[in-house]
Amino acid sequence: MKDSIDPLEKKIIGIAFLVMAVQVSLIAFAAYKLGLSVPTCVTNVKPFDSGSFTKIGDHRYEIHVLAKMWGFEPNKIDLPPGSIADIYITSKDVTHGFHINGTNVNLMAVPGVVNYAQVTFNHPGTYPFVCHEYCGAGHQAMNGMVLVSDHPETENPESVSSAVATAVATSVATVSPGSKLVQDKGCIACHTSDGKPSVGPTFKGIWGRSETFTNGTTLVVDAAYIKESILDPPKKVVKGFNPIMPKLPVSDTEIDQIIDYLKTLK
Ligand code: CUA
Repeated sequence: MKDSIDPLEKKIIGIAFLVMAVQVSLIAFAAYKLGLSVPTCVTNVKPFDSGSFTKIGDHRYEIHVLAKMWGFEPNKIDLPPGSIADIYITSKDVTHGFHINGTNVNLMAVPGVVNYAQVTFNHPGTYPFVCHEYCGAGHQAMNGMVLVSDHPETENPESVSSAVATAVATSVATVSPGSKLVQDKGCIACHTSDGKPSVGPTFKGIWGRSETFTNGTTLVVDAAYIKESILDPPKKVVKGFNPIMPKLPVSDTEIDQIIDYLKTLK
């Protein structure tokens, strides 16, 4: 009975311990050497109903992100390099996702629950974030960005945002304003421009097309109808589709630009 353990079993036990040791050291390596943190659910923090951005110390920021159909609040976050951000996230309506590109922040935004992650932004740059949980018609339009730049902290963050806005506007100068609008407002999440069927009627050939509605009426698509559809989507719903289009904040000028763009989609 001196050695009752089978040598093979001994070997397997040895391998099992080795695997565990490797796993534990990898976790320790990730936590201490790479500075990665595991997302946490903070049960003692009350859900909040608006987004906020607070400086809580030298290079320390607390950010409350509110996810909702279909956007994030705030959707533009300005930070100087070397910032440590405590990110708290919750949702106002359905379950959303929150992933910041180029970081390990990958959280779920769940109504009634606050999730937490801490992230350090060492390198200047743009870190886009997106919703990665399908949450309805405007899902693809749910995004924003963290902007890490060297601007002095006394500088008005607005001026930085507008600099970015200008840069973005310049890069899409060749694209028509209407085409940019249907992207920015999330229209393309439900309306294709190539004739393919989707959640809503395709934009291709919409101008001058004869549409039949769920209430049995028919009309030829013109500027008045497009405007009405944007301002009051459920009023006339094209037959075969559901009345799920959300009302979006769009100005009269923007509506005209969208109409001009739709006319080109023959
Ligand atoms: Cu929110 Cu997808």
